[in-house]
Amino acid sequence: MQLNRDIAITWLGHSTFKIETPGGKTMIIDPWVQQNPACPEELKRVDKLDIMLVTHGHFDHIADAVELGKAHKPKVVGVYETCHWLASKGVENTSGMNKGGTQNVDGINVTMVHADHSCGILDNGQIIYGGEAVGYVVEFENGFKIYHAGDTNVFGDMRIIAELYRPDLIMLPIGDLYTMSPREAAYACRLLSAKMVIPMHHGTFPALTGTPAKLRELTQDIPGLEIIELKPGETLK
Ligand code: NI
Ligand code: MN
Repeated sequence: MQLNRDIAITWLGHSTFKIETPGGKTMIIDPWVQQNPACPEELKRVDKLDIMLVTHGHFDHIADAVELGKAHKPKVVGVYETCHWLASKGVENTSGMNKGGTQNVDGINVTMVHADHSCGILDNGQIIYGGEAVGYVVEFENGFKIYHAGDTNVFGDMRIIAELYRPDLIMLPIGDLYTMSPREAAYACRLLSAKMVIPMHHGTFPALTGTPAKLRELTQDIPGLEIIELKPGETLK
């Protein structure tokens, strides 16, 4: 599978992706690196980071946000309340937003979209309100568009996301228990008229039982759909 779009997308395991953009920026979506059991050791060191997107406040999406935010001072995008929390922890360049909004970050258009999930932030043993969980449609400098769904169940308005933004590549959670399983994700592929899907949020720990093979089985009748199964650490470009 080749993109040939001057984009390199590396799956760091779970929902964490590192993306080298056509304009030479380094982006991380859902910074869970150091304690992420799926992330290969050699990829745990982050040398450069320009943009960080956070889908919600659960630890498996945000655990390294404060440390990386302080170390590299990337532009940090998240829902308003989560950004407020990150700022309170010393992260400088947060740019909070909400669903339906788009902001241009260093030449990249970031649109926040709905996700059907929760967003409490664990802070000192308490769960505090982090706003709502979200997904992102990201339009890179060359027009290539991805949709990272975050943690979510399938929802009917995925059809609106497909019609409005027409993403080229979609990252969908399939692990079950905390998110969609392959059953719901297969339905999501239909709602989204998906052409390229990277399954995520699977295989990290035993409780996540959904597999790319199952998603492939449940979507084999969809013409033109490619399920792109990456290994943690593998790069699609
Ligand atoms: Ni979550
Ligand atoms: Mn999660």
